[in-house]
Amino acid sequence: MKNKEYQFPEGFLWGGATAATQCEGAWDVGGKGASVLDHCTNGDREHPRLITAEIDTEKYHYPSHTGCEQYDHYEEDIKLFAEAGFKTYRMSINWSRIFPNGDDMVPNQEGLDYYRKLFEKCKEYHIEPTVTMTHYDMPWNLSVKYGGWANRKVVDFFLKYAETIFTEYKGLVTRWLTHNEINFGTVSYGEIVTSGILPKSERIVMQDPNATTEDLNRRFKALHHEFVASAKAVQLAHEIDPAIEVGCMMCGFAFYPLSCKPEDVAAAQRDMEIWNYYCMDVMSKGKYPYWAKRFWDENGISLAISEEDKTILENGTVDFISFSYYRTDCSKGGDKLLEGNTDFGMPNPELEATEWGWSIDPQGLRWLMNEYYARYEKPLMIVENGIGAYEQQESDGAIHDNHRIAYMKEHFKAMAQAIEDGVDLIGYACWSAIDIVSAGTGEFKKRYGLIYVDADDLGNGTYKRSKKDSFYWYKNVISCNGKNLDE
Ligand code: BG6
Repeated sequence: MKNKEYQFPEGFLWGGATAATQCEGAWDVGGKGASVLDHCTNGDREHPRLITAEIDTEKYHYPSHTGCEQYDHYEEDIKLFAEAGFKTYRMSINWSRIFPNGDDMVPNQEGLDYYRKLFEKCKEYHIEPTVTMTHYDMPWNLSVKYGGWANRKVVDFFLKYAETIFTEYKGLVTRWLTHNEINFGTVSYGEIVTSGILPKSERIVMQDPNATTEDLNRRFKALHHEFVASAKAVQLAHEIDPAIEVGCMMCGFAFYPLSCKPEDVAAAQRDMEIWNYYCMDVMSKGKYPYWAKRFWDENGISLAISEEDKTILENGTVDFISFSYYRTDCSKGGDKLLEGNTDFGMPNPELEATEWGWSIDPQGLRWLMNEYYARYEKPLMIVENGIGAYEQQESDGAIHDNHRIAYMKEHFKAMAQAIEDGVDLIGYACWSAIDIVSAGTGEFKKRYGLIYVDADDLGNGTYKRSKKDSFYWYKNVISCNGKNLDE
């Protein structure tokens, strides 16, 4: 029987992704200031990362200080991405490389020059950058001095940063994402890494069952400020260069009811709403969802949203929706997303999981894409998707990551199905283009890349790059525009 030919649109943006604080290293080089992540130690599945007020390298390892040393290897990396056939490289600018303290009067020229050279290199290889403005990233000074996004002043600092980079890279970058996985701002982990609100203790927990009403107010106020900043940035980008398209960036996560009990179905609906649609509605439709008032009231959240802010949100909706997709979970009646203990929902007994307990669910991707598209009818872009695994290099230099090939293949088939359903999917960037530090645990051994980097959890190694089996497989997929997934 003839293999099925999968159809992806012409000009589909195949590529790979990274984030500055996970790949660049050179954390204090070239005039860069410290970012919040530069104060975060490594951890692992059992031990959460710590965030230390002082950087104490005698006592701790801070993985963002080394990343995969892309700052020093960017030419080599982009050449490898071009060899794989990337049409886009999704990456982020480190805010504190441009404004070391966040509230500086003038930008750091060395930081501007670094990204200019990187974007020019992409151009040379016909790779379009897709650039995240803040990927779990805030200048440390803005967190300490102003309290992060909970302070409205940060909106202005962000807009100055936005204006600087939109103007500086006009013609080199036409696709921007404002805040990475902004919906993480609804939970404790995200308020630290996306909103720059420093925790009460050094431990970085995913969820904080002890969050007080005051904490929740601060958290949702910070999110409101991020929405306003993003909406203003969208308008600014269009004024500076009408060719620019700006997307929101969500952590795409599907919640299934754990059973067909009506209370589980209701719980899944609520988790979908809070996790996916609270932020997406504001950024895509320009207004808070109709159920937001009840949600705020039930959680004691009181947000003073002015008429002016409402107009800003309405006028600054995004051009497209980008999201990450790794896993799905289940919801059980009575659970509350904001008060869960360790992770998001309950594991799905029907699905296999990665070594870090993340369920593997390609079909969930098709389902989620249809949900998003039905609701917003805006182009979608998958800007992160992949599998984290322990991997090793054989004595002949090869890295056999068949688990990644299997994972990607099934997710690509799900994407092709969604496209056949009628969803407008414009691109896909795998996580990650190259091995980098894990954001959640700070490990290096939780590898996601198509390209292996010789480094360990403590930053030791040669940082030599080697192509994994998935690199060659993905290259072949891209060269056929995804037609040959059954081969
Ligand atoms: C996404 C983040 O949530 O997941 C990335 O945007 C992160 O920064 C990725 O690296 C994978 O998560 P982790 O914790 O395994 O690195």
